[in-house]
Amino acid sequence: MKTISLVVNGQGVEKAVSDRTHLGDFLREQVGLTGTHLGCEHGVCGACTVLSNGQPIRACITFAVACDGQVITTVEGYGDDPIMRRLRESFTEHHALQCGYCTPGMLATARDIVLRIPEADEQRVRIELSGNICRCTGYVGIVAAILAVLNDLKIAPDRSVESLRDAVRSGRFIASAQPLSDTFIHFEAQSGPVSANTRATGKSDMPQALAQSGTQKNQTHIDGSFDLAFDAKTVWLFMTDLSSVAACLPGAQIKDQVGHKVHGRVGIKFGPMSASFDGAAILEKDDQAFSAVLKGSGQDSLSQSRATGDVLYRLEVLDQALTRVHVDLAYSLQGPLAQFSRSGLVQEFVRRMITDFGRNVSARLGNPTLADNVPVAAIHPVSIIFSMIWSRIKRLFS
Ligand code: FES
Ligand code: FES
Repeated sequence: MKTISLVVNGQGVEKAVSDRTHLGDFLREQVGLTGTHLGCEHGVCGACTVLSNGQPIRACITFAVACDGQVITTVEGYGDDPIMRRLRESFTEHHALQCGYCTPGMLATARDIVLRIPEADEQRVRIELSGNICRCTGYVGIVAAILAVLNDLKIAPDRSVESLRDAVRSGRFIASAQPLSDTFIHFEAQSGPVSANTRATGKSDMPQALAQSGTQKNQTHIDGSFDLAFDAKTVWLFMTDLSSVAACLPGAQIKDQVGHKVHGRVGIKFGPMSASFDGAAILEKDDQAFSAVLKGSGQDSLSQSRATGDVLYRLEVLDQALTRVHVDLAYSLQGPLAQFSRSGLVQEFVRRMITDFGRNVSARLGNPTLADNVPVAAIHPVSIIFSMIWSRIKRLFS
């Protein structure tokens, strides 16, 4: 147990929680704020979305201990927030709720849209809302309600909404819970990654210089491996050629390359959510040890989320014509997508990407004339949930 102190809806809260208590359970069971709804509890449906230091997060996949010192706003705490006041009226006017189960999360995301993207049109609103699922009303009323607020603010700008938008543009976060107007609480922008480790990989057997990569605090680590029926030298030549590697990574495109530096794009599609990270990467390698690290960072132009990460890989000679490639991915996400970084679904997604990557490498090594383009990695969360449940059942009975 650890005692945490945070501000919830403008009130200081200090409570002892276990390391594994999610923020959603903490808010509902220990703070008594049952307006935060839990649906899928896997970070997919968005019902549990609350604000942490002004940014939407999934309360079901955020540990309460990770929120120590933060300012949390739930649906009970928006009070007279100038955007939320408009959204509430607009949701009522446009019949944007039926049972209301999704509504606390919808409102939190809607507020974020109005705040961050004043110019959003219908398509953009729908894309931004794609992480919030409504099981009964449908989206027509919800989208119309948000568009109405955006239009009203275009026609008649509101000084208090503009000051919130200015704060977001300048990287300050403003708590939406009372006190309001001139007495808003201001927060400096967070620096550094916002996610926490889910699994430390422990001591790496990478060479010293390379081992320093991927061991930063607050990164999520995912490791995996795949076997290739080729000798280690052939595999190594392939794995240190960036254009060959990119051609096997689903959704990756290299725009330009100078030596071991590349600029490019990685696109992913995860159920209704998609992102396309533009960025740069550099490869550092140790030919003697058959190990390398690809260090990269990028930004998704749509959600403005940022990702930094290292892909460490190392070859293990199993046989003269059999090589195992160990991959250790260490990454952190900042921005709206950060809420997914520790989700079991995302980790399963990345593991599948590693498996697909291994399959593509094997295919290309066997046939170098294969076409370069590998489609964007697209996985339906439902299929992952089923495969996770199935593997748990197998573990239970094995
Ligand atoms: S309960 Fe579904 S995203 Fe949290
Ligand atoms: S209004 Fe019922 S789930 Fe959205």
